[in-house]
Amino acid sequence: MDAARREAVLAALGVERYVPRAARRAAPAPFATGALSWDELSAAVSGCTRCALCETRTQTVFGTGDRAARWFVVGEAPGADEDRAGEPFVGRAGQLLNAMLRAIGLARESVYIANVLKCRPPGNRDPRPDEAGECLGYLRRQLALVEPDVVLCVGRIAAHNLLGTDQALSRLRGRTHELAGLRAPVVVTYHPAYLLRTPADKRKAWEDLQFASEVARGARA
Ligand code: URA
Repeated sequence: MDAARREAVLAALGVERYVPRAARRAAPAPFATGALSWDELSAAVSGCTRCALCETRTQTVFGTGDRAARWFVVGEAPGADEDRAGEPFVGRAGQLLNAMLRAIGLARESVYIANVLKCRPPGNRDPRPDEAGECLGYLRRQLALVEPDVVLCVGRIAAHNLLGTDQALSRLRGRTHELAGLRAPVVVTYHPAYLLRTPADKRKAWEDLQFASEVARGARA
C-alpha cells in the first residue's frame, strides 16, 4: 500500500497520524493523490495535518456539487462562513457566485466547486505558498476525478496557485490555460468577493462567463 493510500485508509478509520509540530512546518514532501478514490480523498482531506492550518480550522472544506459536472469552479480558500459550514462559497461571495452561475444557465448543484486550500487561513489572510503546495494535490485529484469540460478559476490567488504563474489577472482573462494531465481548459475570471467590492467589473466577469460557456460548448462539439 503506498503512503497516500495508507494515510487515507487510516484517516477513514479515524486513526490520526502523529506529526511533530516542527515536521508540519517543514518544506512540502512529494504528495501523491493520483490513485485515491473519492472516499479515500475525502478521508485524507478531513484528517489532513500537512500544514499548520489544521490547528486553527473548525473543519476542512472538501468541495461540493456534481462529481460528474461539466463545470468545475476553483476558488481560493474557505472563509469564516465556509469554515463553519464545511462547504465552499456559502457566504456573500457564494451568493454572488450562485447568481453568476445562474446567469449562464447553471444551477449551483450542477457544477463542482472546490478551493485551492481546504482549510481556512486565520483572519482570511492569503494562502502561503507552502500551504498551497501541501494542499494542491487534493484539488488536482478532484479535477482528475470529475473530468470536467471547463475549469472556471475565480480570482488572482486561485489562478496563481492552480496555474503556477504570477501574471496579473487582467493578463490571465480572455484566453484558455492548460494544466498538465487535465483535458479541460482553464478560464480565469474575477473572484466574487472582489466583484462585491468592485461592481463596475461585473461586466468584464460576464464576458468571461460567456467565454467559458463557449469553451465548454466547444469541448462537447
Ligand atoms: N472565497 C473562496 O475563494 N472560497 C470560498 O469557499 C469562499 C470564499
